Amino acid sequence: MVAETALTVDDLVAPLFVREGIDTPQPIASLPGVVQHTRASLRREVAELRALGVPAIILFGVPERKDPQGSGAWDPDGIVQVALADLRDDVGDDVVLMTDLCLDEYTSHGHCGVLDDDGQPDNDATLELYAQVALAQAEAGADIVAPSGMMDGQVLAIREALDEEGWSDVAILAYAAKYASALYGPFRDAVDVTIVGGGDRKGYQQDYRNAREALEEIRFDLDEGADMLMVKPAVTYLDVITRARALVDVPIAAYHVSGEYAMVKAAAERGWIDGPAVALEQLTAVKRAGADLVLTYFARELAELFAD
Ligand code: PBG
Repeated sequence: MVAETALTVDDLVAPLFVREGIDTPQPIASLPGVVQHTRASLRREVAELRALGVPAIILFGVPERKDPQGSGAWDPDGIVQVALADLRDDVGDDVVLMTDLCLDEYTSHGHCGVLDDDGQPDNDATLELYAQVALAQAEAGADIVAPSGMMDGQVLAIREALDEEGWSDVAILAYAAKYASALYGPFRDAVDVTIVGGGDRKGYQQDYRNAREALEEIRFDLDEGADMLMVKPAVTYLDVITRARALVDVPIAAYHVSGEYAMVKAAAERGWIDGPAVALEQLTAVKRAGADLVLTYFARELAELFAD
């Protein structure tokens, strides 16, 4: 009766992977229970999530071929675009369809942007490509695009491109406070990304020693037209979620990322912790900190738990 926080199925967003050119779903070793879907298995999964009452999914694509530009990201026949169109046909408006908007799954070098002559991500050249990706995703049926590349000015570039082409009703969930985290490892297995030359994303993602800097990123993204903001990862950044909540009134999402999921799964597999109980505790804490929605690989498992 006096519980202050409740995590329900309505708070969950399921991250899903779809891979081009495969006939059967491929398990991801470091993300037990998560697979790279075929187009067909993705449709089945989303139908099942819908039946369980999960309100939203976010889609990531794994292309058959990668190139320096990441052109699969905006190709109208690219894997995310065709898969989105399938889902839009299947579920209509019953499930909110979000897309991760980035180039790293599609670039041969694994960075979130195109590279300049020195091999460094070129911020402004990348913005033009993000605008093209946004249009391709909107065209294919995305309700919400979620730019995750942390390039400066990305929200404005995407908003302008969408508005100019008549997609003013497509919303932007900005990965505003995205930290350069060691917790993304299993995700990079999921999308077959290795950053060239042992590189990292510290040039464009946030330093985990800083919280005020994240608030600055949040203010920028809101000024540029973000409809919702994301903090990522989740459990190690509860303070950032709380501070963001106090600062803004738009919805705040938190991404309980691949490494957070994998740690719980690995300990549970050994019988060291009760996996579902820990998942529930962690994700409830994320809500208690102030998040309105949680992106989590536990979405399906928790929805099943709640349905029991
Ligand atoms: C970038 C992106 C990443 C994740 C979501 N979008 C990887 C990165 O920034 O290196 C990570 C999600 C996770 O770890 O679950 N497209």
